[in-house]
Amino acid sequence: MLSSSLLLLSILLGVNDSLGGSDFRICAFNLYHFGDSKSKKNDVMLILARIITRCDVCLLQEVRDSKGKAVPELLQQLKRYDPKHGYGHVASERLGRSDSYREQYVFVYRTDTVTVTGQYQYPDDLPGDEDAFAREPFVVRFKAAKTSIKEFVLIPQHTTPTNTTKELDALYDVLQRVKKMWRTENVMLLGDFNADCGYLAKKNRIKVRLITDSNLFWLIPEDSDTTVRSSTSCSYDRIVVNGPTFNRAVVPSSAKPFNFQTEYGLTEEQALDVSDHYPVEVLLRVVRSRALRSSSSFTKCFSLLALSCLVCHLFIW
Ligand SMILES: *[C@@H]1O[C@H](CO)[C@@H](O)[C@H](O)[C@H]1NC(C)=O
Repeated sequence: MLSSSLLLLSILLGVNDSLGGSDFRICAFNLYHFGDSKSKKNDVMLILARIITRCDVCLLQEVRDSKGKAVPELLQQLKRYDPKHGYGHVASERLGRSDSYREQYVFVYRTDTVTVTGQYQYPDDLPGDEDAFAREPFVVRFKAAKTSIKEFVLIPQHTTPTNTTKELDALYDVLQRVKKMWRTENVMLLGDFNADCGYLAKKNRIKVRLITDSNLFWLIPEDSDTTVRSSTSCSYDRIVVNGPTFNRAVVPSSAKPFNFQTEYGLTEEQALDVSDHYPVEVLLRVVRSRALRSSSSFTKCFSLLALSCLVCHLFIW
């Protein structure tokens, strides 16, 4: 009797949890050389699908899809793995300083919760502006009705390790330009910033306006490890939000690396086949629809009932 009411209780709490857990998750993932050969590894593609379908919007970096087949294949995989949602994507040009090495920024998003309302490729030849980036940000504006912020802009960046200090500082200029262009404060910067260990010396941080401006909130804790290798512990991948309004629209302490190795019980070698980075992620506050709110109070009511049953049983027992 006791165990059956415990079971009932946990089921009801579980139901309650899944309804209440109507999250909105933004992720940034350096896929480490994602292209033709990785897209042919079924086990890797399955893990990628598991990771990416956790997110409403996911920035993919180090997409090196010269044949243009790996990204469509990944999208197919996402739709197969998670048929409840639709998935779409927007991608930058192939960006880089040399013809032999280029990367794309790709945003994958759920078409049922998110729409793309603007795109802007930051140019590499702005007058009076030295060519700061190896991979200029591909800036995208999104609308997401279920979030409390409603509409926001994402500025992606995968810095060149050896130029990290300068590129991070230059991102500040991108931010100012985007704020002015779209008349919004609701901007998030995210990606593999290489913002730790040997690539961003402590003494150089005061030179980076993206760090010194107190209007910017660095959400990934400084002591996080966003690298898969057990021999390294560096907080390379970051999420930064502009302004107190956007900061308040974020679920407190939700920003973190997603350690898919331990989550999915993989060996280090299996995890490294997927990437040498963990994705980083953050939750935005959501506004609950009326239907959701009433059904969740319904389950709450039931949970309470189950709890009182349990107490009764304990008493009689
Ligand atoms: C670092 O930045 C300088 C100046 O913008 C550029 O000439 C150089 O190619 C960059 N290095 C790399 C590895 O991208």
